[in-house]
Amino acid sequence: MLNETQVANALRRPKPEVFWKAEPLLGSIYGEAEIEAAVAAMREAMNIHAGFGFSAPPIPDFERAFADYVGARHAIAINSAGPGLDMAMRFLNLQPGDEVIVPSLNYQAAPLAVVGAGGQVVWGEVDPRTFQLDPADVEQKITARTRAIFPVHMNGLSAPMDELIEVGRRRPNPLHGPIPVIGDAARACGGGYKGAKIGKHGLMTVFSFHTMKNMTTLGEGGMVTTDDDEAARFCRSVRMYGAEVSRWGTSNVMTKVQAAVGLVQLSKLDSFIGARRRLAKARDAMLAGLPELELPFEPADCEHSYYLYTCLVKPEWAGEKRDQLMKMLADDYNIGCVVANPPVYFSRKDLAARTFGQSTPRSEATAKRIICISLHPAMTDELNEYIAAAVIDCVQRLR
Ligand SMILES: Cc1ncc(COP(=O)(O)O)c(C=O)c1O
Repeated sequence: MLNETQVANALRRPKPEVFWKAEPLLGSIYGEAEIEAAVAAMREAMNIHAGFGFSAPPIPDFERAFADYVGARHAIAINSAGPGLDMAMRFLNLQPGDEVIVPSLNYQAAPLAVVGAGGQVVWGEVDPRTFQLDPADVEQKITARTRAIFPVHMNGLSAPMDELIEVGRRRPNPLHGPIPVIGDAARACGGGYKGAKIGKHGLMTVFSFHTMKNMTTLGEGGMVTTDDDEAARFCRSVRMYGAEVSRWGTSNVMTKVQAAVGLVQLSKLDSFIGARRRLAKARDAMLAGLPELELPFEPADCEHSYYLYTCLVKPEWAGEKRDQLMKMLADDYNIGCVVANPPVYFSRKDLAARTFGQSTPRSEATAKRIICISLHPAMTDELNEYIAAAVIDCVQRLR
């Protein structure tokens, strides 16, 4: 942990001029190469006989490069992660009463995809150290109607995919066989799991290239990866109205300009993740031993992408005191924090109504302790040290 002198020296630096949101609005870094790629794609599209085309190059090139990056057979480019989650759920052909287990600490997109496809959301608990869907809790909640396990690779870290896949195998659905695991990796592009990239394990994985994410295709975009030929055919078809599979679809395509920029961002993704990891590890060392804060946990078989630097305040500081800490960091030091995420059923009453009083007490208690402190690959070491010093100072003043 930084000592008293180091904290004082770091805080002598001027306060950042801009407010550093917990999730800065451009999550990656853009440069001339992205601009050149976008302009080149637009120049090609100026040919009246080519235009922006239908799945025109370099969209297939981006898909191939992304599939190779994660080690999957197929990658299907889409306009945003939300529709990818919808497609994954629609692929299951859910019947009324069919259940999908989703962590309650979540963004709203995954549970909404379950509802949109006609399924019943079952809220799962998370492991409070990793914030990932807990396989033991999933096993308890499996019924004869369970059709999918739907973890989120929360805040940049991989969900325990092998354990979840094993639970799905051990407790097969009586009609459909082993329960598939489908991952929402919107926040975890570039993260690693058991020597592979997130996106290789499970039936399907959905990525987001939204502006705040680890890489972005001009602010919106997404990708579905899968090894399953039928799932790939389904997604390819329904992203363009679904004729080939005779299923409902709409237009969820990515443009060639986005794909051109995506190829450049993908080539830089490992350097973005490397920078996030270096900053996170340095911050860990600067905060280690501060009794009020549990630092992000990285299981030995995972490579955290640190989309968010997710900590827990000690149980006695849950709720109000945690909120005071967040406010102090914002007001006094221009450092943003976010609680990602409280149980979705608190913010979406419509989802609460559809889940009939189900609750996840362990996750509710965890959410009261979560604090994600601003991190971005473009941060300097000096700023990172300033942030660590600011956290120590605020914690000490709140004691
Ligand atoms: C966990 C999670 N899932 C899904 C989404 C939706 O992604 P998109 O904006 O690309 O549709 C987000 C975006 O914030 C997210 O954080």
